[in-house]
Amino acid sequence: MNTIPLVGQPLDRIDGRLKVTGAATYAYEVKSSRPPAYGFILPATIAKGRIAAIDTRRAELAQGVLLVLTHRNAPRQSTFGPPRVPNRFARARPFLGDDRVRFWGEPVAFVVAESFEAARHAASLVKVDYAAEQQLTDLWASLDRSYKPEGITASGRAPTDSVIGDVEAALAAAPVTVENTYWTSFQVHNAMEPHAALAEWEGARLTLFTSTQTVADTRAAVAATLEMPVEDVRIVSPFVGGGFGGKLGVRAEAILAALAARELRRPVKAAQTRQQTFSNVGHRPASRQIVKLAATREGLLTGISHDVVGQSTPFEEFAEQNAMPTRTLYAAPNRATRHRLVNLDMQGGEPVRAPGEAPGLLVLETAMDELAYALGIDPVELRIQNEPDRDPERGVPFSSRNLVRCLREGAARFGWADRPAVPGSRRDGRWLIGYGVSAAIRSNYIAKAEASAKLDQAGIVTVRTDMTDIGTGTYTILTQIAADELGVPQDLIVVQLGDSRFPRSPGSGGSWGAASAGSAVKDACAKLRLAILDAARSVQGSPLAGSTGSEASIKDGIVTIGDRSTTLASVASKVAGGSLEAQGQVAGMADNPAYREFSQHGFGAHFAEVGVDADTGEIRLRRMLGAFAVGRVLNPKTARSQMIGGMIWGLSQALYEDAVVDPRFGQFVNHDLAEYHVPVHADVPDVDAFFVPEEDDKGNPLGIKSIGELGICGSGAAVGNAVFNATGVRVRRFPITLEQLLPGLPQS
Ligand code: MOS
Repeated sequence: MNTIPLVGQPLDRIDGRLKVTGAATYAYEVKSSRPPAYGFILPATIAKGRIAAIDTRRAELAQGVLLVLTHRNAPRQSTFGPPRVPNRFARARPFLGDDRVRFWGEPVAFVVAESFEAARHAASLVKVDYAAEQQLTDLWASLDRSYKPEGITASGRAPTDSVIGDVEAALAAAPVTVENTYWTSFQVHNAMEPHAALAEWEGARLTLFTSTQTVADTRAAVAATLEMPVEDVRIVSPFVGGGFGGKLGVRAEAILAALAARELRRPVKAAQTRQQTFSNVGHRPASRQIVKLAATREGLLTGISHDVVGQSTPFEEFAEQNAMPTRTLYAAPNRATRHRLVNLDMQGGEPVRAPGEAPGLLVLETAMDELAYALGIDPVELRIQNEPDRDPERGVPFSSRNLVRCLREGAARFGWADRPAVPGSRRDGRWLIGYGVSAAIRSNYIAKAEASAKLDQAGIVTVRTDMTDIGTGTYTILTQIAADELGVPQDLIVVQLGDSRFPRSPGSGGSWGAASAGSAVKDACAKLRLAILDAARSVQGSPLAGSTGSEASIKDGIVTIGDRSTTLASVASKVAGGSLEAQGQVAGMADNPAYREFSQHGFGAHFAEVGVDADTGEIRLRRMLGAFAVGRVLNPKTARSQMIGGMIWGLSQALYEDAVVDPRFGQFVNHDLAEYHVPVHADVPDVDAFFVPEEDDKGNPLGIKSIGELGICGSGAAVGNAVFNATGVRVRRFPITLEQLLPGLPQS
């Protein structure tokens, strides 16, 4: 331990300077050993059918073109999947494998040339004739085709349905009920760094520099697709410009670059355009959700029902489990949740930040606001009244649960008491003013992880794991953890990430990164610390050799035994080989009984104030505050950034994001950042977050809980509820748009 512990400090990002100076190298910027060729993907322009003919002659003759891959000449790859591989991100994903088109935007050709521009131009010269087939791409018109996903391909984290008691009877008997239908939109991750890869072969061995959240899964998927031993694939991904779930798996540009580089015996770079990422990296499926709440007049819930229909595809099932948080958030004796899917001829859904919770809580927490209004109860109090004392569906205690504290402290800091009591009753000039609240819940996870820590003769400790930093602050928090565990100052710690040569981690996903990689790093450093102390005492030539003092410590980089002290470097330099190394690990949830014995989640409360233009219906967020309980906070600065980033995405779900399907093509028509709206600075005036103190030693040795995805959970509902409070108009189809709001605005 250091004199001043680093964990808990708002340390600046270790990689911040590299990023703002351009010294952090992203996949597409990596310099290959020899000049690379550039690949460009040609996407399909039908939703379903066959390639009847494809003419590549003009493209092949175009200047600078080296190779045009289509299904006719693509090198052999494994078939897809198989779907029974439970980890979808480790499945084989062949491209250009046959003449089938399964969704709009699926790659039908890959053109490789001396420059990006030449490849892109040549791709435009490829002529494709399609034999289109009858397609299904309209979710809202196809809801009657929904089916129940079963077994392992249910692709969720939990059973598809849950039933406790008799919710229909509770609804029939209750004096107050709220039953409504809601719709949420298709959403796309839109990481700042589009998906990109550089593939280099050395004989039969492939090195793939690629932008990925999970090095080990990507390695497995590449090896499976290319039918080669995993050991022959190296994945390198030290810097990742955002992921949000869209980089959990391997994508077309990486597989196609690898295939082309092997054919050409030359490095190949490929990136998706922004437009291509709308159809080639997965999306959050739109959903129709029906929520029914039954309550006593005093506001005690007697029944909760949450019914979800979302989109999947015939070729790979993905069920976004939007009703998952409903199983845990509130007490009620009668409960039912179910998930159904409609298979459309579109790109499939994939995890998008807080898969399930984000669209599920947008709806559930709107429904709770509707119930509070129907009952005439303050929505903060309604939530507090229905606080369960154990997990309402699993029956086990919570590892920690401070939702009530978040609601109360958040309300006090926000000034909730000043909320307009009657919707549509407060004006500030031309603005109608409203406040909204919602609860947040997100599961706390951990996955099996390994790390190494090595002390060298210079006194530097190098920590390694294949964990990634996707912009969240992983380099920084792992540095803090390692420094404290070893008792070494920050500037003697070097954290190296994102390389499949390093010990295996689950990568960045599910908000488990800090707990998993962090616990493995802590374990490695604890073991290295013991090894250093042991060597200091026992290695010949060590300045502390033969020390018998019972007090042994490392503090601020100084090794002390009894009354003698020395530096780390002087110990390491006397060890054979000049270094000391230790391996650390942590078990995953399946091997951690605390995940069976306790219900583990992070909690929070969101508060929002909006202004709605009384004449035009324009909605402006005025301020937003989040209160969160997440166990120990490793770094308040990076943690706060995670929370407010998520909160802003929730704002976006409520007011902006909507990938619109053209049912004639199964295409998102607004597939760029001009037409697909996300909040910009002007939309985000005053957003803040704070953490309530909480201890939770159940999930991991660090005492932390998942935070990355908690911020988006429920924040959209707080905004929507504020819009209702401002106007008295309840919009149940998200995003809330002017045309839905205008007809109901109060007349003035
Ligand atoms: Mo997250 S949707 O697991 O990146």
